[in-house]
Parts: sequence; C-alpha cells; structure tokens
Amino acid sequence: MMYASFRITAFDKMYDRRTFNSGSEALDRYLREQVNQDIRRHMAACFVALSNQRIVGYYTLASASLLLADLPADVSKELPRYPTVPTVRMGRLAVDQAFKGQGLGGALLADALNRTWHSEIAAYALMVDAKNDTALSFYHHHGFIAFPESPMVLFLPLATVKGLISS
Ligand SMILES: CC(C)(COP(=O)(O)OP(=O)(O)OC[C@H]1O[C@@H](n2cnc3c(N)ncnc32)[C@H](O)[C@@H]1OP(=O)(O)O)[C@@H](O)C(=O)NCCC(=O)NCCS
Repeated sequence: MMYASFRITAFDKMYDRRTFNSGSEALDRYLREQVNQDIRRHMAACFVALSNQRIVGYYTLASASLLLADLPADVSKELPRYPTVPTVRMGRLAVDQAFKGQGLGGALLADALNRTWHSEIAAYALMVDAKNDTALSFYHHHGFIAFPESPMVLFLPLATVKGLISS
C-alpha cells in the first residue's frame, strides 16, 4: 500500500529502526528492543511505514475483546446480548517526529482499519489506548468513542468507517 512517498508493510528486522524518534521513549524503545520478540511469540503484529528502508512510523495489532456492559448504552443496545464483543487492539501507533504532520499517522490508522476490516477473523471495532492527551485528541479527531468508565480507552466500530475502507 502506498501513501505519498511512504510504503506501509509488515515489520521486518532488516528495516532500519535505530534512529526512530517519535518523541515517546517508550514507543521508540518498544520498536528497537521488543517488537521482534512479540511478533515471534504471536503477541502482536506490527506494520511499518518505510521511507527508503527506514522505519518512519509503525503500529501494532492484536486480537482483544471488550465487555458489552462497558460500551455506551446507545451503542450496546444495537448489539446482540453476548457478554463479550470481539475487537482488534491497536496497542501502539507512532510516527517519527521528522515526519509528523504529513498525513502519516492518519495513513497508518487507515491501514490498520483496512487490515482489520478485511481479516477473516471477525471484529466489531478497532480499540486503542491513548497514552496521553495528544493521542486522545488524535483519536477523537478520527471519530473514536471513549468508554464511559475509561476515557483513555477508545473504540471505533468498523461499520462506521466502511465507506473509507478500500475493497
Ligand atoms: C499522534 C501521531 C501518531 C499523529 O501522527 P501525524 O503523522 O502527525 O498525524 P497526521 O499528519 O497523519 O494527521 C492526520 C490528521 O489528524 C490530525 N491530528 C494529528 N495530530 C492530532 C492531535 N494530536 N489532535 C488532533 N488531531 C490531530 C491532523 O490535523 C490531520 O487531520 P486531517 O486529516 O483532518 O487534516 C503522532 O503525533 C505521534 O506519533 N505521536 C507520538 C506518539 C503517540 O502519541 N501515539 C499515539 C498512540 S498512543
């Protein structure tokens, strides 16, 4: 998949990630030191944006679920009465500071929604954990809905973005 001069593809340890700097030491360290092990153990999948074989953005996906009772009432009343609802969690999303504000974060999010939508495993929504207020405002901007009891955890029902997803 191509977005401007970036290419989004599955993580491979041959890609250069040594200088990746998102402004969040935890997210940078995860990419340098942890992600490969998580992929090997099937704890997460990781997709990266490349600029000349260098990683300039990434996100992770893993299967998850939420409790029907935790959803806002106007959302849960539309769903079947199963106690849990299948989702996919985007555990991490980060863009290198030198590449911020160029549409890359939005492109990575769109890519995650697209992959989740086209997966053969059903998921009702993409879930995210906002690490701080900047992330929270980014997700609100893209239509994510916060859980009433956990405002830093948000979800986006895939059906609501169907029109944005490529066939
Ligand atoms: C949050 C982050 C991923 C955004 O990436 P980015 O490449 O700068 O964002 P984009 O240029 O793709 O912006 C896409 C859209 O989101 C908007 N946006 C970007 N950051 C935003 C913010 N903090 N609050 C609200 N809207 C924001 C842009 O205005 C743009 O809007 P438009 O499509 O309507 O024009 C990036 O700043 C980042 O990596 N931050 C550090 C790590 C982090 O906070 N990760 C979040 C997950 S925990």
